[in-house]
Amino acid sequence: MTATPLTPIPCTLLRGDGIGPEIVEATLQVLDALGAPFQWHEQLAGLNAIERHGDPLPEATIENMRQTRLTLKGPLTTPIGGGFRSINVRLREALKLYANVRPARSLLPDGKFPDVDIVLIRENTGGFYVGVEHFIQIGDDPHAVAEATGILTRENCQRISKYAFEYAVATGRKKITVVHKANILKALTGLFLETVTTIAKEYEGRVKLEERIVDNCAMQLVLNPAQFDMILTTNMFGDILSDEIAGLIGGLGLAPGANVGDDAAMFEAVHGSAPDIAGQGIANPTALLLAAAMMLEHCSLHALAAQLRAALAKTLANKATRTRDLGGQLSTGDYARAVIANL
Ligand code: NAI
Ligand code: MG
Repeated sequence: MTATPLTPIPCTLLRGDGIGPEIVEATLQVLDALGAPFQWHEQLAGLNAIERHGDPLPEATIENMRQTRLTLKGPLTTPIGGGFRSINVRLREALKLYANVRPARSLLPDGKFPDVDIVLIRENTGGFYVGVEHFIQIGDDPHAVAEATGILTRENCQRISKYAFEYAVATGRKKITVVHKANILKALTGLFLETVTTIAKEYEGRVKLEERIVDNCAMQLVLNPAQFDMILTTNMFGDILSDEIAGLIGGLGLAPGANVGDDAAMFEAVHGSAPDIAGQGIANPTALLLAAAMMLEHCSLHALAAQLRAALAKTLANKATRTRDLGGQLSTGDYARAVIANL
């Protein structure tokens, strides 16, 4: 019996920097074997775009992302200290991808914590990542003083709160922990806490709200991660805590994320371009594959997503079919082939 062909779905593809091209290639192979109906529109961004266009984020790339409204993205390198502004941040701003959804679930039966199942929702466009910062020169020291401003509007906070509570209702999650530092950053994270608490009233009886100060939350996460269901937090705390949570389940090789707005969505790994292992063919593509599973779900292709998730779980359950970051021996390509064999 031949299945009815699925309607092709146009999707922008950014291969990214560092290990990006390696994990993207592995992901494309698995998606192809799965029969996912994505029609790829390959575009440039990051270091490869500078080489070819002199611009790390060409307008044509953003335009294509607006048209397809769907992007699969490899990690992009951002220079430390000086250099160009983060393309990741610019992409989220340009496409108004205000919600960053980062789920983490224990997939290794022999992992440190067998029962982690946390969805972290991060406000993705405001806070300290708005890039409003500068140095002040005193005498002949151009870097005598550094100043950074965090910006959040009530509207930003309402939008992300509603997104998180609606996500909880839609996915059957029962508790949201709002994570803040409103004891010190009383305005910036105080407004966040205040708004989340107000929106939570609309969901009383359906979704419980708890609050935690970020430092305590960081400690509680390593002590007893199973107590957390969903975490809702501001941009920078979300960035930091999502790497910490990835560590609980085995590392960054296993943590996917979605950047979602009202008009577009972009799927990627939580991790970056991993320059320390780039070009060696040893990167773990699971995080991007899980991001691809989220993308399939976003496109209502639930059966394909479930098939992909099951193949990943089966492959990871076997110590012999893991990549090096998880104590295995497989190369990126061999791991992709093992996943395909388990589809
Ligand atoms: P990173 O996430 O690239 O790497 C941290 C550590 O985890 C490294 O030891 C790396 O080898 C390891 N790792 C990451 N992904 C892995 C994978 N798939 N398989 C096996 N090991 C993996 O963070 P780092 O080194 O701080 O940043 C490198 C660059 O990536 C920077 O330019 C940063 O700005 C950028 N970045 C980009 C992101 C994005 O595109 N969304 C997110 C985070 C960082
Ligand atoms: Mg990060």
